[in-house]
Amino acid sequence: MKVGIPKEIKDHEYRVAITPSGVQAFKAHGHEVLIETNAGLGSTFTNEEYQQAGAKIVSSADEVFAQADMILKVKEPQPEECSKLRENQVLFTYLHLAADREQTANIMKSGCVAIAYETIQLPNGSLPLLTPMSEIAGRMSVQIGAQYLEKRNGGRGVLMGGVSGVPSANVVIIGAGVTGTQAAKVALGMGAFVTIIDRNIDRLRYLDDILSGRFETVASDIGSIARSVKFADLLVGAVLIPGAKAPMLVSEDMVKTMKEGSVIVDISIDQGGCVETILPTSHSNPTYIKHGVIHYGVTNMPGAVPRTSTYALTNSTLPYALLLADKGYPAAIEGNEPLRQGVNIEKGKIVYPVVAAAFPDLV
Ligand SMILES: NC(=O)c1ccc[n+]([C@@H]2O[C@H](COP(=O)([O-])OP(=O)(O)OC[C@H]3O[C@@H](n4cnc5c(N)ncnc54)[C@H](O)[C@@H]3O)[C@@H](O)[C@H]2O)c1
Repeated sequence: MKVGIPKEIKDHEYRVAITPSGVQAFKAHGHEVLIETNAGLGSTFTNEEYQQAGAKIVSSADEVFAQADMILKVKEPQPEECSKLRENQVLFTYLHLAADREQTANIMKSGCVAIAYETIQLPNGSLPLLTPMSEIAGRMSVQIGAQYLEKRNGGRGVLMGGVSGVPSANVVIIGAGVTGTQAAKVALGMGAFVTIIDRNIDRLRYLDDILSGRFETVASDIGSIARSVKFADLLVGAVLIPGAKAPMLVSEDMVKTMKEGSVIVDISIDQGGCVETILPTSHSNPTYIKHGVIHYGVTNMPGAVPRTSTYALTNSTLPYALLLADKGYPAAIEGNEPLRQGVNIEKGKIVYPVVAAAFPDLV
């Protein structure tokens, strides 16, 4: 099979879909790998490293899309990339369709088979291709929140860990999954007081067992969220219903109760966000202020730490990408339920139920 890797074009997106070692693995399985020139530079991988691993460097994204049987990417295809997709071509990448009507319609129009990293699901419910980026975004969310809490960045001027005789910052995290847990670990490490909210009590019980420091766990309901949001210096949105639009849990009225200069980092923005006032932002222009509260809604946070992220991504995606290349589509999904769960759009039809439910008129 011909596997194609274009350079990522989303704002400040420096990740690339494969490392040179990943190329070697494809070659060892007898596949051809085409990489757009300089696609890996943002992650510090040169054209020469890819060539030595056996890839062919091509000069444009057009060539990659025109020649490859399968396109491997990191972020969802941008409109100009959607127009390059072909009928029956396999697209394997993050998609987050339920929050993006335009992209859904564009991919349907292309006739390709779109397989989303983020909906590949193991029998225990975990999402093995979302997890590494969630770990990174969760850890970053608190680093970023700490910076915006500084006065020079428009924040309240609160130090995460406080100091002797002065209380530390209140960090409220909604969602105790992968991102929420990593955010909690970093916030606790910085000495903040942490509140973790989830509707899954078993998950809260688990965190009670493994975390230590100044934190409390809270069962998710509208009243508990409203009370917690009000005293937050940093609010982290970290919820997910796999494949679906994020539930709106923090209303605009709740945001109005927050203190001037407090910060919201809504990691779940890639699925639409769980805060009513959050909008997607970019690394170039990451924040805006609404009701006196700094809002951060960058949809590709791990793109800012590409060296770490590209390795972590290839570690997770490679076994599935190799399976797709070895067996082809649809043979690769037959008998492989986790990979089958990744198929969101097949030749013009939405086949992932929660995405279909988000756009009934497109079905
Ligand atoms: N912005 C970015 O750059 C970026 C990067 C990586 C991941 N993400 C996103 O972060 C989000 C979270 O991902 P994750 O891997 O942590 O998911 P996860 O499945 O591990 O955790 C989600 C948690 O949300 C909880 N939840 C669902 N509904 C809830 C509700 N009503 N109240 C309280 N809790 C609720 C679930 O019980 C679960 O514990 C996803 O949208 C993911 O795509 C964004």
